[in-house]
Amino acid sequence: MAREFNMLKEIREQALIIKDIINKRVDFKTGCAVFDEFDHGKIRILKNVQRIIFLGCGTSYHAALYGNYVFEELTGLNCECELADEFTKREAVIESGTAVVLISQSGETGDALKAARLAREKEAFIIGLTNEINSSLSKYADICIYTEAGEEIAVAATKTFTSQVMLLGLLAVYFDSLNRKPPVLSQPAVFELKGLSEKIAAVLGSEEEIKIIADKYASEKGFVILGENYNYPIALEGALKFKETAYVHAEGLAAGEFLHGPLAIVDTDFPVIFLAPIDPAYEDNVKIMKEIKRAGGKILAVTTAGNHKLDDLADDVVRVPSALDIFVPILSIIPLQFLAYGIAVGKGLEIDKPRNLSKYVN
Ligand code: G6P
Repeated sequence: MAREFNMLKEIREQALIIKDIINKRVDFKTGCAVFDEFDHGKIRILKNVQRIIFLGCGTSYHAALYGNYVFEELTGLNCECELADEFTKREAVIESGTAVVLISQSGETGDALKAARLAREKEAFIIGLTNEINSSLSKYADICIYTEAGEEIAVAATKTFTSQVMLLGLLAVYFDSLNRKPPVLSQPAVFELKGLSEKIAAVLGSEEEIKIIADKYASEKGFVILGENYNYPIALEGALKFKETAYVHAEGLAAGEFLHGPLAIVDTDFPVIFLAPIDPAYEDNVKIMKEIKRAGGKILAVTTAGNHKLDDLADDVVRVPSALDIFVPILSIIPLQFLAYGIAVGKGLEIDKPRNLSKYVN
């Protein structure tokens, strides 16, 4: 039997962890998202927030980008996202009414903490999102929200990432509710959250199927991973998993951007992983897939369960259950985690402790 690394165990834990987060943070009777961390004083500050900057490094940066997108959609606030280290290297403008959401699984990443110090100097309201209760980030932040994903041993983050994404989605719902009466999640969203962990479990059930695909792609020299909108951060995160875990170059790109230059990389059999759920970007994504096929490339599509329209266009298809666009990333990242893991297993790598890396850099 193949050796099983902590990374695999941590991927498999995701359904349960997300279920726990939802049970703790969603009041199904009222449809409210619950964040008891914010007392009356803090709620008053939140109500005056005009602008939110999301910051993180590595995987946490990808969660930050998701946060940017979901907050913009649900709260209508002015949002932006930046790599924490870049934020510290230029004259970032922070005016009053700015909140900084700082994301760091460990809460100890040096660049993230430097960004927290700078944000504090400039009097931003800092919301930390971390998995570590006694971390330095929890001391710098005005309010800290914990992902409570349990200890993550593998260097490549999996369960802490999906927990970050879930909490950012719920926090956006919470922020939105502060200025609206009654503060409720939409009915489809409540309904969806009730069944989300079963949907995750369904994707986890495709582990063996994805392992076979991973074996097929195991000797590729490089990959491009494409996604649009909420799946763009997932394309970036998937590419990082491939690099960290399987030591294979992978580039995550916004699908539309792929036509503006990168398409030139594609020649016979060049592998492109395309996150193409049924969503408003789907038809545009199909057009891009046709361009990739015309250039001779090979496509592994990740699409919505029940969609068989890509069977002739893509070389391989993985399907994930349908979900509201904002929750799809929690499902679509899992096949990429399994693929990275499967390719790394095929290469006989020491998956939990990749060469040259540590869990965080301080
Ligand atoms: C290191 C790890 C990455 C991780 C990043 C940020 O570079 O190798 O996998 O995403 O740190 O870690 P953090 O603890 O701040 O989320």
